[in-house]
Amino acid sequence: MPKKLVNRNPAVSDFRAEVLLGMEKQPRSISPKFFYDSEGSRLFDEITRLPEYYPTESEISILREKCSELNQLSMGSEEGIELGSGNGKKAAILLDCFGKMNSYILVDISITALEEAMDSLSSKFSNMDISAICVDYRDGKFMKQMEMQHPGKRMLIFLGSTIGNMEPEEAMEFLKECRNSMMDGDRFLVGVDMKKDPEIIEKAYNDSSGVTAKFNLNLVERMRRELGAEIPENAFTHMAYYNEGKGRIEMHLLCTMDFSMKVAGKEFIFRKGETIHTENSYKYSAEEFSGMLKKAGFTKNSYLTDSRKFYGLFVADA
Ligand code: AVJ
Repeated sequence: MPKKLVNRNPAVSDFRAEVLLGMEKQPRSISPKFFYDSEGSRLFDEITRLPEYYPTESEISILREKCSELNQLSMGSEEGIELGSGNGKKAAILLDCFGKMNSYILVDISITALEEAMDSLSSKFSNMDISAICVDYRDGKFMKQMEMQHPGKRMLIFLGSTIGNMEPEEAMEFLKECRNSMMDGDRFLVGVDMKKDPEIIEKAYNDSSGVTAKFNLNLVERMRRELGAEIPENAFTHMAYYNEGKGRIEMHLLCTMDFSMKVAGKEFIFRKGETIHTENSYKYSAEEFSGMLKKAGFTKNSYLTDSRKFYGLFVADA
């Protein structure tokens, strides 16, 4: 099978513009998408292997252990399309599971991740038609375009609890977009981190080896490296806590002192105790997320979970 990788050259997000804008806001913020430069992507990969970070291992355990249920729920989907496929590790598990799939499309914003995925998958699954598109799937046009080229029964796949980074209203909009890109009989597979004992959640974002702290503080390093920002040593520390009212983990960079930061010709005054908000990671109950899928127009959905009920895989029918 020929391997196909289409590079739609997603616009590289402008870190300078984001920082200048985010520092003017009150409270200050930087979008979590800026975590993922090459150093940040490497650190995230390390996070997924931490003993405290349960989401990745829980999701993979469901994919492995609930393969026959997944297969049944897939109703013989012939084509898989995975949004945010990364390096293709989960795709390999899915392709092992779904015997009937004959084509698989990887969609990711990172060209290096897609190259790696194509290399490993096209040799391992040489009898399948595997292709890749490098694009920002949040770019409004993409989901609309996918709707057109639509031969057989399709499964739309969105794993990793990436949906947790969206505000609930945004997540609803995105779920509707997903539904609208699908035809009757298509399936939607989505991974969600579940509400649970806050202590367990907080440990996952405050790991004992300090990798998550490094991941968060990489934004400070990026300001220094890429924007020449002058920031005193140890001006920020990592802070992550569960906001029970909102059902989300919040990550912040906490100021440990009063200081001023010069960046791109501007000066910003920081006070000890204030924060830059860098991420929200929403957790849902099975009822909440199932309700959202219904509201988005999916006719029915099933929920698969791991032995500890930490993580949920939902399969919804269009
Ligand atoms: C990639 C958004 C699912 O929210 O758990 C991990 C990112 N941040 N540790 C998550 C993250 C800190 C992760 N998601």
